Amino acid sequence: MKIKTAVFVKSSSQHEQCPKPDRPEYAFIGRSNVGKSSLINALTNHGNLAKISGKPGKTQVINHFMINDAWYLVDLPGYGYAQVSQTERQKWSIMIDDYLFNRESLTCTFVLIDSRIEPQKIDLEFMQKLGEKGVPFCLVFTKADKLTANQLQTRLENYKKTLLETWVELPLIFVTSSEKRVGQQDILAQIEEWNKA
Ligand code: GTP
Ligand code: MG
Repeated sequence: MKIKTAVFVKSSSQHEQCPKPDRPEYAFIGRSNVGKSSLINALTNHGNLAKISGKPGKTQVINHFMINDAWYLVDLPGYGYAQVSQTERQKWSIMIDDYLFNRESLTCTFVLIDSRIEPQKIDLEFMQKLGEKGVPFCLVFTKADKLTANQLQTRLENYKKTLLETWVELPLIFVTSSEKRVGQQDILAQIEEWNKA
């Protein structure tokens, strides 16, 4: 799919404040610093549509971006960022859950995982919660450029094995590098399919 236009629409802190739910919508979630905002910029071929930072905790609200005048990409704050206060983390977590569990136009949630790390409890529990609430999700392994092809393969196999300990089926899995522009077309092709459905 070709991205013709990508426009920031608004920031919200509750699902009620989000734009009218009249188009397909895809949200990006994952631990702070995993690369959510960078992936949105890479997908839209836009250097600084979503604000990125080397410091975790950059994205603090729900940000809607309208793509091709037809669908939304949504950048969310990360979870599990230890450097902010418990109260702040709690506030973000409530905001994320409120959005994910109530947003009727949410077609799929992309859960981002850093390719370099072992499966983390916080991510696995987050997926579990999505499953229990019936929120559809797929996985994106980010920062693939930081590993060799062999390391990446090993990490992916290991992650799939862990997932199959609790899930009967694997979700759709994408592998990306926003730095090296890898994997964006696969995600866009899938979104195009969903948009047609
Ligand atoms: P929060 O908004 O803080 O939750 O973070 P985020 O998940 O939106 O991460 P962000 O896109 O801000 O990126 C965090 C850091 O990772 C930045 O320094 C990015 O440059 C870097 N980064 C993101 N994607 C990639 C990638 O594919 N490869 C490499 N090497 N670095 C990346
Ligand atoms: Mg961000």
